[in-house]
Amino acid sequence: MKLARILPVIAGVLLAGCAGPQQSALDSGGPQSGRIEWLWWAFFYVLGVIFVAVLAALLWSLTRRRRGIEQEPLERTHIPSGATEQRLTRTVAGATIATVAILFVLLIGSISTGRALAELGNKQNALAIEVTGNQWWWYVRYLNDDASKIVVTANEIHIPVGRPVMIRGTSNDVIHSFWVPNLHGKRDLIPSRITTEWIEADRPGRWRGQCAEFCGLQHAHMAMWVIAEPEDQFEKWMQARLQPAPEPTDANLQHGRDVFLNNACVFCHHIAGTTAAGQVGPDLTHLASRLTIAAGTLPNTKGNLGGWIVDPQNVKPGNHMATIDIKPADLDSLLDYLRSLK
Ligand code: CUA
Repeated sequence: MKLARILPVIAGVLLAGCAGPQQSALDSGGPQSGRIEWLWWAFFYVLGVIFVAVLAALLWSLTRRRRGIEQEPLERTHIPSGATEQRLTRTVAGATIATVAILFVLLIGSISTGRALAELGNKQNALAIEVTGNQWWWYVRYLNDDASKIVVTANEIHIPVGRPVMIRGTSNDVIHSFWVPNLHGKRDLIPSRITTEWIEADRPGRWRGQCAEFCGLQHAHMAMWVIAEPEDQFEKWMQARLQPAPEPTDANLQHGRDVFLNNACVFCHHIAGTTAAGQVGPDLTHLASRLTIAAGTLPNTKGNLGGWIVDPQNVKPGNHMATIDIKPADLDSLLDYLRSLK
């Protein structure tokens, strides 16, 4: 009873260095990750018990052998009697059978989990999202038969709770891997190939995802956020995303937009409702509504955004964002404008 209570604590301490509460395969937010979590704990408990049993047997044999040497003459100890021989044979055979049986049970558990992962009950009202890996950010596009309802964003995926979501993944450059451990396992994103992964959230939440395939210098800074929200909230988010960028409401914001449109920014970034139509970098139409910038690297604050624009190579060395020369006064207006893109 006590052991059952202590083991999760030990595991929690050991795994604390791997992930925070918002990115953990042991805090499932959906049916698939729930199965993975179950399998993980099954392995943990079975193998934990075996580990403890093996150590106990080792300790027992060590203490026993010492006593044996003291009690018996040496020539007799290595000639087991018929009864001992039989007992040894039985023990070894029993241990072998137990090992095979345990491995078999673990194998079945693993295979059935793998199968269950491929199944997601009702895919009738599924949502399809295209996720494209780039060095080092995520292009996100909500597919729709009606072209006017296609939403494009970056590094942040909103999904409705209780609705299956198909992630159609690919890559623009090298192999990346889409991994949101609170929802599912990893899925490689491969150039000129499409891989799919079904995810579903069964409760609202905000979870961190991370590229799980080494993809270059800033692989570690290729994160994303998945936000699961109730259907009505999700719909509201979608509707807001379909709107073009808000028009500047004062001279400062107007100037900020001019700074953006008259600089190299427009070659890479798109802002709906303006002439900026670049497709190389993340869509900035609703930049201010996102939690982070630079693919989960920095919280989305004015100061961080300023630092990122002035010296992107300092924040994420090797990234493809150009360093442009902007006067301090212009930068302030530019930041105010970008911060207005809600
Ligand atoms: Cu993309 Cu690692």
